[in-house]
Amino acid sequence: MNVLLLGSGGREHALAWRLAASPMLTKLYAAPGNPGIAKEAELVAVDITDHAAVARFCLGNNIDLVVVGPEAPLVAGIADDLRAKGIRVFGPSKAAAQLEGSKGFTKDLCARYGIPTGAYGRFDSLAAARAYVEEKGAPIVIKADGLAAGKGVTVAMTLAEALGALEACFDGSFGSAGAEVVVEEFLTGEEASFFCLCDGATALPFGTAQDHKRVGEGDTGPNTGGMGAYSPAPVMTPEVVERTMREIVEPTMRGMAEKGMPFSGVLFAGLMIDGKGAPKLIEFNARFGDPECQVLMMRLKEDLLTLLNAAVDGQLSHMSARWRDETALTVVMAAKGYPASPEKGSVIRNTEAAAGKGVEIFHAGTALRDGELIANGGRVLNVTATGLTAGEAQTKAYAAVDLIDWPQGFCRRDIGWRAVDREFVK
Ligand code: AMP
Ligand code: GLY
Repeated sequence: MNVLLLGSGGREHALAWRLAASPMLTKLYAAPGNPGIAKEAELVAVDITDHAAVARFCLGNNIDLVVVGPEAPLVAGIADDLRAKGIRVFGPSKAAAQLEGSKGFTKDLCARYGIPTGAYGRFDSLAAARAYVEEKGAPIVIKADGLAAGKGVTVAMTLAEALGALEACFDGSFGSAGAEVVVEEFLTGEEASFFCLCDGATALPFGTAQDHKRVGEGDTGPNTGGMGAYSPAPVMTPEVVERTMREIVEPTMRGMAEKGMPFSGVLFAGLMIDGKGAPKLIEFNARFGDPECQVLMMRLKEDLLTLLNAAVDGQLSHMSARWRDETALTVVMAAKGYPASPEKGSVIRNTEAAAGKGVEIFHAGTALRDGELIANGGRVLNVTATGLTAGEAQTKAYAAVDLIDWPQGFCRRDIGWRAVDREFVK
């Protein structure tokens, strides 16, 4: 098979790494890709926001499957536009991607199908939203309805903070994404990420992970796209997974099919698990997490391309996903200044020497300049290792981080602390 992978981050490098290893693969292309992905795929300079150009490339190069990494093209309807030309795509339709693209859409689906989630209100005017927030009080969560590159959520601990966040949304800080706002009950417990591969009817559980969203050690400081992750998430016991499937994922699949927008692709549920093991939905995403995908790909035993094809063909009920009985852990190395204003252009050395023996260095925001690897974004490298325990995976990942020569980069030194602490208690 000829496969075109869309995207340019660490998530896509991990997907490329597994797709390239598939016995079913003839040729892998990636657009736009990055220097890490270039080791696994031929990079093509097609603008992925130009759906007609992507379709032309596919038709001209006998592409048998397009794998869409990020959410923006899905929410913009790339899967529909390619399918309309007869091209097979792994990823949800524009209508189904509303599960990520509109927080209000998802909350209404939860209300309709009895899916456990925080109480909420949807607002398109500041006055009504303000009245609701004043009635409910803090802590409370304010969310821009649409895609806001991970910046549209404010967990407000005070009323003043909540009102400030509402004003920012309605002032246009998040553009059209903030024209509507969801105000949500503050949930407590332990967060986890849960993934399913979906084919419109069947959802196949596809691993658990936890990420670290805050930039600073001890989970402090501003939110980021994710500073590190590990899989499996110990809080996602078989009982919690079973409840999540029954109470959250299966009603969602049913509800979406009933609405005439069956969900296919990756359903990523961001969950809050309370002390009794009851899951509540924080949000859905319509694609793999980044950096959660990197740790899942380290543990997956099956051939990824076989599974993605089965999802596209509606055959997932015949498939299983088995995982290596190890912990995988990834440390994000970011450019100094991330998330506010990462410095670009600094030279990174020694990544090749740091890889090997259960360690993979996935590239995110990298580029080549005069044959040297340079930082070209906020999150730059994902140093990923496996180990028999979370502690061993963590030790291996940081040993590799310490081999990389990049003075202008930084990382958190405590990725995986929850899982490692649990091992000490045992
Ligand atoms: P999101 O961008 O929706 O993933 O939200 C970012 C982060 O905000 C989540 O990972 C949670 O840590 C936090 N968050 C979102 N919604 C809630 C909620 N209802 N209660 C508590 N924390 C939340
Ligand atoms: N790491 C969280 C996300 O990809 O949304």
